[in-house]
Amino acid sequence: MPAVIKNAEEVEKMRVAGRLASAVLDYITPHVRPGASTGQLNDLCHAYMVRVQGTIPAPLNYAPPGYKPYPKSICTSVNHQVCHGVPGERVLKSGDVLNIDVTVIKDGFHGDSSRMFYVGEPGIQARRLVEVTYACMWRGIRKVRPGAQLGDIGEAIQSSAEAAGFSVVREFCGHGIGRRFHEEPQVLHYGRAGTGMRLEPGMTFTIEPMINAGKAAIRELADGWTIVTKDHSLSAQWEHTVLVTETGFEVLTVSAGTPPPAPADA
Ligand code: MF3
Ligand code: CO
Ligand code: CO
Repeated sequence: MPAVIKNAEEVEKMRVAGRLASAVLDYITPHVRPGASTGQLNDLCHAYMVRVQGTIPAPLNYAPPGYKPYPKSICTSVNHQVCHGVPGERVLKSGDVLNIDVTVIKDGFHGDSSRMFYVGEPGIQARRLVEVTYACMWRGIRKVRPGAQLGDIGEAIQSSAEAAGFSVVREFCGHGIGRRFHEEPQVLHYGRAGTGMRLEPGMTFTIEPMINAGKAAIRELADGWTIVTKDHSLSAQWEHTVLVTETGFEVLTVSAGTPPPAPADA
């Protein structure tokens, strides 16, 4: 299936949805501290989305083929959890690092973004992993322009992750996004430059590398959702939704609290 090309009106709706997803991450930031439970963070985000923003939390009851409906409104993936961590009773403690992944629907369109958070003071390895993963996401984003190929993004991410001694998770990838949460194309975070689908103006997709401090292998927990590293090494992830413009890219998931882009030489 080909990628969906968004027209100007649809792009504007994607901008709104992207800004709102990012604003949820801004909102929850001061609540991420020792003693908070992931379930509390979920409930706060849920109320903010539904009551303040008038957005729909896309994860809630989301059920792709082969999965049971996702039970919560955000994903919270702590330490060696790679992605799709299900919020619950777990209480955060100083030294934890976690990813919060937010996807909202506004006016029929999806915005999808995630950030890493430090609970108290992170260890040296955790900080390095989080910073390298952020630079990897930005290396991928900077490849986005008409005529570039998806493999250019994958290679840029993989090469910087592996140069740092880390590994790229293979089983999950970025994705086209729009009226549907997950649409064509699949955006792999590894691969070879000069391969894969060519990018065209009006495409919207996510770039969301999951990078492990240890080996790349993962497994799924018995809850049917939470993904963890097999070797229990730390894992980090950042995610933006981007638009292919006539001249390059536009990051759609931006708000007041969005961290600045990683330096181009990182
Ligand atoms: N937000 C995730 C992504 O980036 C998907 C989460 S699916 C869920 O694609 F059901 F776990 F929420
Ligand atoms: Co996504
Ligand atoms: Co996401």
